[in-house]
Amino acid sequence: MTDHILVERQGAVQIIRINRPDKKNALTRAMYAKMSTALAEGDADPAVRVHVFLGVPGAFSSGNDLADFLVIATGGEGGNEVWDFLMALARSEKPMVSGVDGIAVGIGTTLNLHCDLTFATPRTLFRTPFVDLGLVPEAGSSLIAPQLLGRQGAFALLGLGEGFSAERAKAAGMIYDVVSEDALEGAVLAAANNIAAKPPQALKIARDLMREPREELIARIKVESEHFRERLTSEEARAALTAFMTRRKAG
Ligand code: COA
Repeated sequence: MTDHILVERQGAVQIIRINRPDKKNALTRAMYAKMSTALAEGDADPAVRVHVFLGVPGAFSSGNDLADFLVIATGGEGGNEVWDFLMALARSEKPMVSGVDGIAVGIGTTLNLHCDLTFATPRTLFRTPFVDLGLVPEAGSSLIAPQLLGRQGAFALLGLGEGFSAERAKAAGMIYDVVSEDALEGAVLAAANNIAAKPPQALKIARDLMREPREELIARIKVESEHFRERLTSEEARAALTAFMTRRKAG
């Protein structure tokens, strides 16, 4: 289980790899916890200059584990792991680079909105079906996406749940570049090493200046989370989540 998130250092680069291929890298509470710890430890360690997020071939992440959502939807305990991870993302002190190949659903998309550079392959599809699941946008995406995509692009992504190919995401300003599957990890690590070679104090100030004010982002994540939690126990969400899990069992 612990191997569902692999954390590795390559020089000044800390790589956080989501590694649960049999479930298309769906994120469980334990996986969020391990990623939060890795971000905190990397931020606290001067030897680390940049964080990298990677998935497995064909799947960056299919989003939150829907079985975990269903537990909350049916009255169970949800824990604080997701919240802690969102705070770790929002508060991260060091640049974050992501490499996305294939499936990028829910937080598999919104995590990248926090990254400073995202590379994606041509077969990548970013998708946030929050509303279709009876839910609402999370991870500060309701604040960041309109800034990046404009209001109508954000509505297409977060309201309609439209898929964004890597090309569309790049044209919309959501990601940095599109690279082939073979070239993905090399491009991500080259970018990360380039960042790691910059004067860290100057880069930190520059990065902080370019990002939306942290307190505003955190306040938005809090409001989103309150709605999200309420929505999880709604009839709309219960029906959608049950349909997904039942279809799985039936199939
Ligand atoms: N949570 C839990 N399990 C998930 C999952 C998720 N978010 N996404 C995929 N899985 C599981 C499937 O249940 C299946 O498990 P099984 O083999 O035990 O039946 C396995 O991963 C493979 O998924 P499958 O649907 O067969 O792969 P696919 O390539 O046909 O489709 C997706 C991939 C991601 C498009 C599809 O699984 C999907 O829509 N998942 C839900 C995504 C989602 O809504 N995430 C939450 C956003 S808020």
